[in-house]
Amino acid sequence: YVLGLDLGTSSLKGLLMNEKGESCGTATADYPLLHPASGYSEQDPAEWIRACEIVFETLKAAVPDFTEELQGISFSGQMHSLVVLNDEQEVLRPAILWNDVRTSAQCAKIMATFGDDLLAITQNIALEGFTLPKILWLQENEPEIWQEVRHLLLPKDYLGFWLTGQQHMDYSDAAGTLLLDVAKKEWSTEILNQFAIPATYLPPLIDSQGKTGVIRPALRQRFGFKHEIQVFAGGADNACAAIGAGILEVETGMVSIGTSGVFLSYEDTKIPHYAGQLHLFNHGIKDRYYSMGVTLAAGHSLSWFKETFAKDLSFEELLAGVGNIGPGANGLLFTPYIVGERTPHVDSRVRGSFIGIDTTHTLSHFSRAVLEGITFSLKDSQQLMETIAGKTFDKIISVGGGAKNPEWLQIQADIFGTEILCLEVEEGPGLGAAMLAATGLGWFASLQECSDTFVSYKKGASPIPTNVEKYQKIYETYQKVYAATKDICY
Ligand code: XUL
Repeated sequence: YVLGLDLGTSSLKGLLMNEKGESCGTATADYPLLHPASGYSEQDPAEWIRACEIVFETLKAAVPDFTEELQGISFSGQMHSLVVLNDEQEVLRPAILWNDVRTSAQCAKIMATFGDDLLAITQNIALEGFTLPKILWLQENEPEIWQEVRHLLLPKDYLGFWLTGQQHMDYSDAAGTLLLDVAKKEWSTEILNQFAIPATYLPPLIDSQGKTGVIRPALRQRFGFKHEIQVFAGGADNACAAIGAGILEVETGMVSIGTSGVFLSYEDTKIPHYAGQLHLFNHGIKDRYYSMGVTLAAGHSLSWFKETFAKDLSFEELLAGVGNIGPGANGLLFTPYIVGERTPHVDSRVRGSFIGIDTTHTLSHFSRAVLEGITFSLKDSQQLMETIAGKTFDKIISVGGGAKNPEWLQIQADIFGTEILCLEVEEGPGLGAAMLAATGLGWFASLQECSDTFVSYKKGASPIPTNVEKYQKIYETYQKVYAATKDICY
């Protein structure tokens, strides 16, 4: 077996796979998010260890040959979240997470003093979620803790450190710190010097399939693992989700709709320069990249709408009438900026809107408009990839909640103008992590070969030419709404 450990924001999920690409067991352990002040989001790294112990024990109880047959472990990790350790390698304070927004002032300072250089080196601009602004916040606001810091890690690397005793970071996660020279694949001395961060605080860099060590003897004994368990570096959760969805070629996009939404594209060896309008990170696949845009409230817009206007209906009931209404919801338009928007506007103050409300509109029109507005927002990211990098997508793999409703899949096919495929079995980023371990162990010669065994697709929806044409016009109107409404939101 290989075990993929998906260290998420609310839980650690373990996915056990065999060589045939069959899922042989899963286990989940939840942990709390801490909000010590408004906009703060933290987590105690000890919780990730406790969760890992629970995942091991649960799998041990459920899968009789787990401890005998497990060969390798790898990780998918929530990105950007800052873990700080002292000289004794002990945690100094709770991790500051990717969804913590306390660092606006630090982001502004970074962009004012180092902005263009930062973009040239890291391919990204400073956003509240990323790691570098969190380090600056710590330097400014908790100098007594910063003085003690000797090691900087990301969540999955801290869990890897607990398992093996070794500290490493893979390129896909390192790219999200804003400390990595993305093209050169090394820590940027320029950035480290500029912000007074000693290079010795950072771990050695490694490929996602690279071996970081074996499980420590004490843990091996405690859990009763028969063999030496090899541990592989793993990757950022978005990179692992892409690997687990088989996104290994340029013309295939991925749309992932959960609370937030991601439009992701595999990038080959050439780095497209998106000028910070999209995120660009090193992939979990050696010397490849991926780009992505984020809609902050994707599924969140739909769940907010249901909670507010149709509390007693299930999602199926709410969306049951959507197929009877044509593209464009009879002139009703929704922008999903209910918590601000990341791509393409990078604007935390804008808010959403319904435009064109008419007496003929019913709950189903509103529901359809919400699905369309979320999809238009993701199309903004697709369009940036097409116009800036000249990409064309011949298919898009739809994953997450947005792939569960056939009407929404049809809307995606018509708005994106491409064939939509879904995954036969959707295991998420944990599958990508398991695939990194399987390839690292040498079960497969490449991730592509592993993907042929581990990932399979089913039909989602095909674009209907008349709908595609209608949506092109409606999308032009949608794109005008941001500029027309933003001033009244501030
Ligand atoms: C990506 C991002 C999130 C986290 C979630 O930039 O902030 O998708 O990776 O864990």
